Amino acid sequence: MKLEKKVAFVTGASSGMGHAIALLFAKEGAEVIAVARRKDRLDALVADAAGFAGHIHATQGDVADAAGIAAVIDASVKQFGKLDILVNCAGVMDEMMPAGETTDELWDSVLAVNLKGPFILARAFINQVPEDGQGVIVNIASIGGLQGSRAGAAYTASKHGVIGLTKNIAFMYAGRIRANAVAPGGVNTEIGVGIKNPSPLGAKRASAGMSTNPRMGEAEEIANAVLFLASDDSSFINGTTLVADAGWTAY
Ligand SMILES: NC(=O)c1ccc[n+]([C@@H]2O[C@H](COP(=O)([O-])OP(=O)(O)OC[C@H]3O[C@@H](n4cnc5c(N)ncnc54)[C@H](O)[C@@H]3O)[C@@H](O)[C@H]2O)c1
Repeated sequence: MKLEKKVAFVTGASSGMGHAIALLFAKEGAEVIAVARRKDRLDALVADAAGFAGHIHATQGDVADAAGIAAVIDASVKQFGKLDILVNCAGVMDEMMPAGETTDELWDSVLAVNLKGPFILARAFINQVPEDGQGVIVNIASIGGLQGSRAGAAYTASKHGVIGLTKNIAFMYAGRIRANAVAPGGVNTEIGVGIKNPSPLGAKRASAGMSTNPRMGEAEEIANAVLFLASDDSSFINGTTLVADAGWTAY
């Protein structure tokens, strides 16, 4: 088992990649604080992990509520005595809005979940790792954090921001914290459910490269990449962004 005796904090755990990451981490022996807003989904997740070496501790929390989510992480540290791993996975799309159509409200709501939340959690996580300790952060970015038109302006900017934040943490705290990002390509999850009223221009431009995508991925395939970055298997890897996209961006 790769995460025995580790305590991991995973956001967005009620569906998709966060769900798969929480389950895989518990299978690998970790105590997993699984954070999400939907209680019914969290209860189902706990049941799914029954019999695993590690356990899932369902915790309700909204990543967009900066004070609230910081309190959740503080309470987790008090309860478990430490956190070894932080996975910032919660994320939302942006209706494919190009900058000219992006309202202040849309910008703020996307950035709150995709960038400010990960920053607030990373800060609280870093400050509870002892000077002589070892902490690991894995941020779920996107190939939209490396390229210009996988989504609208707010999502693209937020994911570029997450990659920059990851690199900054990695270098500033090298030796004590390892911080890496995963940049998934298209993955079969519920993320598209949030797209209600997409911009026709944005959707057309963002989908222009779809035909070059070799295939969609599954949440479990991303979880495997996250486990690698969260475990000692990647002990020399810090500040990188691991692209997991079946080769889409290799074109
Ligand atoms: N699916 C893809 O194709 C894809 C590609 C690249 C990157 N990503 C990123 O992967 C991550 C996981 O997304 P997914 O594809 O598994 O989608 P998903 O919608 O299944 O999972 C995202 C989770 O985040 C949660 N969430 C949203 N806002 C939240 C908030 N304010 N507080 C707490 N939780 C919140 C949602 O409830 C959901 O459970 C996201 O950061 C997303 O941007 C997804």
